[in-house]
Amino acid sequence: MSKITIIGAGSVGATIAYTMVVNGTASEIVMIDINGEKSLGEALDIRQGTPFCAPVSIYAGSYEDAKDSDIVILTSGVARKPGQTRLDLAQTNVNITKTIIPQLVKYAPDAIYIVVANPVDILTYQFCKTSGLPEHHIIGSGTILDTARLRSRLSEYYNINQQNVHAYVFGEHGDTSFVPWSLANISNIPITQYRACLKEDKEVLSPELVYEEVETYIRKSGGKIIQRKGATFYAVAASVVHICKCIFSATDTTLTVSSMMHGEYGIEDVCLSTLTVVGREGIKGKLVAPLNEQEQALLKKSADSLKDVIKNLDI
Ligand code: LAC
Repeated sequence: MSKITIIGAGSVGATIAYTMVVNGTASEIVMIDINGEKSLGEALDIRQGTPFCAPVSIYAGSYEDAKDSDIVILTSGVARKPGQTRLDLAQTNVNITKTIIPQLVKYAPDAIYIVVANPVDILTYQFCKTSGLPEHHIIGSGTILDTARLRSRLSEYYNINQQNVHAYVFGEHGDTSFVPWSLANISNIPITQYRACLKEDKEVLSPELVYEEVETYIRKSGGKIIQRKGATFYAVAASVVHICKCIFSATDTTLTVSSMMHGEYGIEDVCLSTLTVVGREGIKGKLVAPLNEQEQALLKKSADSLKDVIKNLDI
């Protein structure tokens, strides 16, 4: 038995709920939204497909229905408009989260929280600082989505299964994110050597990788999708459902998710993404994977830019 509550029944919240039902991620799913008609409509629409899925109870509720949740997912907030950065949203969504936190803490003090709304690193920080809940129970979806974008991009580039691609995006889920290329590999072959290892027809199998181009693609792709279709929700939903699966799994998983830094890489008092071990109890710990000097400087820059925003916010 596993119960997940989703706060916010917008495109992201509803797609997370749908993806969970189709994947059989939880046995009970509660959808809560300030607009009760919207959460009811979404829950009904999803419920009516459940005869083709694993048994699940999905319904719209209020905060008290979050009681006994194993996981609570926070998607509520104003979404990014075309041209807006995630940080432009900061104070508006901090204010929304401020009203929600006490309700959640009251009814679901033992749940593991996954913060998804943007700016995700800032809201994760706010949650850690103001909820009074243990920090290891607070996970920001962070750069798990950027990492998925990177892996799918590299898989396209090299025409190789996404699962063979091990590469990560670190830092802010936003404009200061970066790829620590020194950690990137395909089937354990460092990415810098992969092309040279190809025996046949290099030109067809793999063009020369332009690292900056890939990083720009990752950093800009959320904004580009928003320009085209008004929002992003499928890839973020798949990423969040993956985090839930990792929490329910008997073995721990390394993920790039956002959590409070405590001196790792010399960074503290800010939430951002580095390689993190996630399991039954939420965040098990952080891996301080070796980064070269330039990568360490980029992580520090990302932390500083988040701290600059936090400084000017009323959390
Ligand atoms: C994106 C939004 C969710 O990157 O920040 O798609």
